[in-house]
Amino acid sequence: MIELTGVSKRFTNGREALQNLNLTLPRGTLTFLTGHSGAGKSTLLKLLLRMELATRGQVSVGGVNLARMPRRAVARYRQRIGVVFQDHLLLPQRSVFDNVAMPLVIAGYREADRARRVRAALSRVGLLDKERQFPTQLSAGEQQRVGIARAVVNRPAVLLADEPTGNLDPTLSREIMGLFHLFQQVGVTVLIATHDLELVEGFGDRVVELADGRVLADSEEVDDGAHA
Ligand SMILES: Nc1ncnc2c1ncn2[C@@H]1O[C@H](COP(=O)(O)OP(=O)(O)OP(=O)(O)O)[C@@H](O)[C@H]1O
Ligand SMILES: [Mg+2]
Repeated sequence: MIELTGVSKRFTNGREALQNLNLTLPRGTLTFLTGHSGAGKSTLLKLLLRMELATRGQVSVGGVNLARMPRRAVARYRQRIGVVFQDHLLLPQRSVFDNVAMPLVIAGYREADRARRVRAALSRVGLLDKERQFPTQLSAGEQQRVGIARAVVNRPAVLLADEPTGNLDPTLSREIMGLFHLFQQVGVTVLIATHDLELVEGFGDRVVELADGRVLADSEEVDDGAHA
């Protein structure tokens, strides 16, 4: 479970990107995070990744208060979180297989385990037959699916995405969102930041809208006490 309690984030330039934010994402749920440009969506994701620390309040993921996490534990913590970006940041000189395997190499998995897990992840996103190709040989949608395979290859408990469909047409975007739902169905907690309200509305998932660093609307206000 992800829990933000009274969270504010002020950057060193004085800019208050998040203001007294309260948000609970129960385990295994999928939530869309929307809001105008500059509303604080990416900042919220960065707090969850512990790329930034909250100025006030508490951010806890899986029962761990991120502010109290020792520095040496951060790398391992991040391995439990899958991340998907708009620009999938694939390595162009590496095959699809190698790109997806990267988190496993970093985590120190043995080669046989890596191959098994990479193929399981590629199969989930429907790209098993492309493992020997290079990113430039793939379509935009396929490249984004490689990014998703890489994000889930470690079987993370949490999957965060920042504008994952920003460069894709509506059909491909729906397909990518369909993949996120697959992971939710196997128990992953998914949070997707996106501008694309039209796309989001078709799914019937929880939508949290930020405006100027605050929650403006929440389609499914969750009672904090009920999901502890
Ligand atoms: N490192 C930083 N230093 C100072 N201000 C920052 C920093 N990162 C973000 N901000 C500011 O915080 C506010 C929230 O930014 P954020 O990137 O979270 O918005 P966003 O909702 O993701 O917007 P977009 O939809 O354009 O991606 C903005 O006003 C931004 O300028
Ligand atoms: Mg952003």
